[in-house]
Amino acid sequence: MHHTTAKFSLLIVAAAAWSFLSASHALPRQLQGNHASGASCLPHERDALLAFKNNITSDPQGILTSWQRGRNDNCCRWMGVSCSNQTGHVLQLDLRDGSLIGQISPSLLSLEHLEYLDLSTNDLSVTDDRISQFLFSFKNLRHLDLSWTQLSFTRRVPDHLGNLSTLEYLDLSGAYFLPREVPPQFGNLSNLRYLGLDSNHLYSKDISWLIRLHRLEYLDMRGTNLGSIDNWLHVVNMIPSLKYLLLSNCSLPRAKQSLTHINLTALEMLDISQNYFGQPIASCWFWNVTSIRSLELMETYLYGPFPDALGQMTSLSELDFSQNGNSATMTVDLKNLCELYVLFLDGSLSSGNITEFIEKLPRCSFSELHCLSLNDNNMTGILPQMMGHLSSLTVLSLSNNSIRGCISPGLQNFTGLLILFLSSNQLSGQIPLLPRGLLLLDISTNFLSGHLQLEFKAPNIEALILSSNNITGPVPETLCKLQNLKYLDLSTNSFVGELPACFPMPYLRSLLLSKNNFSGKFPTLIQSLSNLTLLDLSWNKFYGALPVWIGDLVNLRFLDLSHNMFYGDILVNITHLTQLQLLNLADNNISGSIPQSLSKLMAMTKTHPPSPDPDWYIGWVNNGFLDILSAVTKHQEYKYAAQSIAYIVGIDLSLNQLTGRIPDEITSLDGLRYLNLSRNCLRGNIPEDIGALESVESVDLSWNRLSGEIPPSISDLTFLSTLDLSYNNLSGTIPFGRQLETIYYSNPSMFDGNDNLCGPPLQRNCSGNSDPKNVNEKEGGKNSESLFFYFGLS
Ligand SMILES: *[C@@H]1O[C@H](CO)[C@@H](O)[C@H](O)[C@H]1NC(C)=O
Ligand SMILES: *[C@@H]1O[C@H](CO)[C@@H](O)[C@H](O)[C@H]1NC(C)=O
Ligand SMILES: *[C@@H]1O[C@H](CO)[C@@H](O)[C@H](O)[C@H]1NC(C)=O
Ligand SMILES: *[C@@H]1O[C@H](CO)[C@@H](O)[C@H](O)[C@H]1NC(C)=O
Ligand SMILES: *[C@@H]1O[C@H](CO)[C@@H](O)[C@H](O)[C@H]1NC(C)=O
Ligand SMILES: *[C@@H]1O[C@H](CO)[C@@H](O)[C@H](O)[C@H]1NC(C)=O
Ligand SMILES: *[C@@H]1O[C@H](CO)[C@@H](O)[C@H](O)[C@H]1NC(C)=O
Ligand SMILES: *[C@@H]1O[C@H](CO)[C@@H](O)[C@H](O)[C@H]1NC(C)=O
Ligand SMILES: *[C@@H]1O[C@H](CO)[C@@H](O)[C@H](O)[C@H]1NC(C)=O
Ligand SMILES: *[C@@H]1O[C@H](CO)[C@@H](O)[C@H](O)[C@H]1NC(C)=O
Ligand SMILES: *[C@@H]1O[C@H](CO)[C@@H](O)[C@H](O)[C@H]1NC(C)=O
Ligand SMILES: *[C@@H]1O[C@H](CO)[C@@H](O)[C@H](O)[C@H]1NC(C)=O
Repeated sequence: MHHTTAKFSLLIVAAAAWSFLSASHALPRQLQGNHASGASCLPHERDALLAFKNNITSDPQGILTSWQRGRNDNCCRWMGVSCSNQTGHVLQLDLRDGSLIGQISPSLLSLEHLEYLDLSTNDLSVTDDRISQFLFSFKNLRHLDLSWTQLSFTRRVPDHLGNLSTLEYLDLSGAYFLPREVPPQFGNLSNLRYLGLDSNHLYSKDISWLIRLHRLEYLDMRGTNLGSIDNWLHVVNMIPSLKYLLLSNCSLPRAKQSLTHINLTALEMLDISQNYFGQPIASCWFWNVTSIRSLELMETYLYGPFPDALGQMTSLSELDFSQNGNSATMTVDLKNLCELYVLFLDGSLSSGNITEFIEKLPRCSFSELHCLSLNDNNMTGILPQMMGHLSSLTVLSLSNNSIRGCISPGLQNFTGLLILFLSSNQLSGQIPLLPRGLLLLDISTNFLSGHLQLEFKAPNIEALILSSNNITGPVPETLCKLQNLKYLDLSTNSFVGELPACFPMPYLRSLLLSKNNFSGKFPTLIQSLSNLTLLDLSWNKFYGALPVWIGDLVNLRFLDLSHNMFYGDILVNITHLTQLQLLNLADNNISGSIPQSLSKLMAMTKTHPPSPDPDWYIGWVNNGFLDILSAVTKHQEYKYAAQSIAYIVGIDLSLNQLTGRIPDEITSLDGLRYLNLSRNCLRGNIPEDIGALESVESVDLSWNRLSGEIPPSISDLTFLSTLDLSYNNLSGTIPFGRQLETIYYSNPSMFDGNDNLCGPPLQRNCSGNSDPKNVNEKEGGKNSESLFFYFGLS
């Protein structure tokens, strides 16, 4: 669970940092100039462009709208096209990110003077022969970007690739190559400064051809299997021009990563994440390369102390050392790293003292640190009150450590803070006023106490997660001012009273109030929450009838009202909720019968299965949410993560006063995984067709007054792993066999309290020593009883 939370938080942190990262990745597109204006275009080149347009079948962004004959036929002024001032020849064609769909027309080959061609991130295909033509026909090409198109090279790349001697920039990321070996002919492109081969799923046994690329500054071979190249480091060390080296997920061999002399003195970015090195951190070669700005070491399983040299890497802007198996220590003084912008150490430290750690973070006249993420690190110590040197933070994430102390009121002055995650620590005291810009706050699972402040001071907040603390008192009305709230989790605290009757919070999708002392009738404010997807009021003291308008909350997917004092019928209107995948009304005073229209709960069928999590707020794995699950999956170990939220499909009506039969219609819910109707007053037979509940894993019908035989179709339930039919009046032969046998041996009491059941696995024989007449009589009695019941109904 914690791991998921951490990953999840990381995702957000990563998103926050993304603009920074993407800016630092790419080389500036220096070759891109604006040659526009002056000259007018040559007719045969214009025709070539129009022929290209003709083969584009979809242009949703209207990139090619300006490409027209007639008045605007000076193609030098068309979008994405640039010409030479002197000759009028087309020199540049830049249609990247155009969302174009179609084929690349061979007509483009007429643009003989083309220097710059960028068709990246479009859905363009081209036939095999033409790729070769493309690569070799543009004699003046300096910049070629065909990444993330639908390109495939299914023939050998010809040797005279090297004819493209003018090429400086080549990006073929995402292209498909056969054979799957990196073509060594790339080594012929001696002017290359940029080579992008990300995610081609290639392999290489020899990358020595790289040495011939004397001008190479950017090398991206992420995802290429280089597992057999023991000397990879020595090869790249022979390319002193390198500034960006991206070799993540390359299965780089575990050989000792040391160099006697480092030539890579221009290196700015090193990404060797997701390669298993498993060696001491300090033994790595790059700690002396002070030019490095971005160092990506995620999932490398380096261990031991960070070397002091880190403190001298004054250009360092980003260090990602996350998910490395909690065996590193960091006591280096970082106070000189004035450029540091992002520091991720999640799941990597074996221990640490947060007080001392924060003390050693950069103190510069102009502080840059924006993201600090230390989740899952076993850190102890007191959260410092004075953190003025961190006031530039956008993201502060310290979840899942053992940090004590109070949350400093000084945080209010962190005007840029958007994300604050402090969950699963040992923080105490009151929740201080929040920084004004805050969007996401998770301080769940601590020892925070006191009343909620009347002012939140963070009017734009979208997620407020305070669960599993000891917060007392009523929910202040000022909560209503948080108009952007999407996710509100107050569960497992000591809140009392009624919810304030707010004006609508139009975006609220998840409202979790479980395990408090809330009271009053079903809160009316919920009626206005039309986007509500998850509603959990369980384990409180709410009472009264369920409101009819609950059927209007058409987006509801999870409804948990269990362990309250609601009474009255299960409204037919609840069955209008076609998105509903979890209905939990357990342990209330609900009476009446189970509505037949339950079959309208389409999200519980296989034909309309619930869609995958549409919004991460729902999938947020936290305690409140887990409660919902554990209530339904009672006997099962929790095995769901945010990603598999779609699989939680259940009905729990147990511990109520429901009467009548189990409606046969329930068997149409063939997507249902959990069904609990135990401890009610249900009569009649188990639906004959119960075997149609194809997906069901757990069925509990115990402690009712069900009679008749156990339908043989129950043995069709191949996913069934828990079944409880005890304490009913069931009779006849148990349809034993297949997995019922396994289920029985894990819960031998599943048939208890049904004196007229017989046959294996019970000792009681169906005929023979027990009195068959007696059984028949009893069974007849029961049948007439239920018959009587039908009459009663009609
Ligand atoms: C082309 O002409 C424009 C103005 O007409 C000028 O700004 C630009 O620098 C020229 N480009 C080249 C490459 O000469
Ligand atoms: C491309 O356009 C040419 C005419 O310009 C046409 O003959 C050809 O069928 C087109 N191909 C596709 C795939 O649309
Ligand atoms: C490539 O260059 C070689 C000489 O290096 C020449 O023989 C060959 O014809 C050229 N190929 C093309 C397609 O221009
Ligand atoms: C390209 O490289 C290959 C070896 O990788 C070599 O055999 C070939 O002669 C080179 N071609 C040119 C044109 O340099
Ligand atoms: C790089 O360093 C190695 C020693 O590791 C040295 O032998 C080689 O000459 C250097 N290469 C360049 C291109 O500087
Ligand atoms: C790196 O710096 C340390 C001192 O901090 C020095 O002992 C070591 O020789 C240096 N390594 C290289 C490869 O320059
Ligand atoms: C966390 O720290 C405690 C002692 O402070 C230690 O016993 C435990 O092994 C540490 N856990 C990890 C995952 O390193
Ligand atoms: C953490 O460091 C501070 C400051 O050095 C010290 O006072 C405190 O005792 C340390 N806490 C722990 C748990 O080691
Ligand atoms: C916030 O900053 C102001 C002025 O910079 C200062 O007066 C105030 O004490 C700070 N608040 C806290 C709680 O540190
Ligand atoms: C919660 O706070 C109350 C008093 O406010 C206290 O009695 C109780 O022990 C606290 N519970 C926990 C679990 O800290
Ligand atoms: C509901 O959510 C959608 C997007 O998820 C949003 O566009 C809409 O404004 C929200 N509010 C209401 C009242 O529908
Ligand atoms: C509740 O359901 C009934 C029957 O389907 C319908 O007539 C009524 O309008 C519904 N009420 C609300 C408030 O949706």
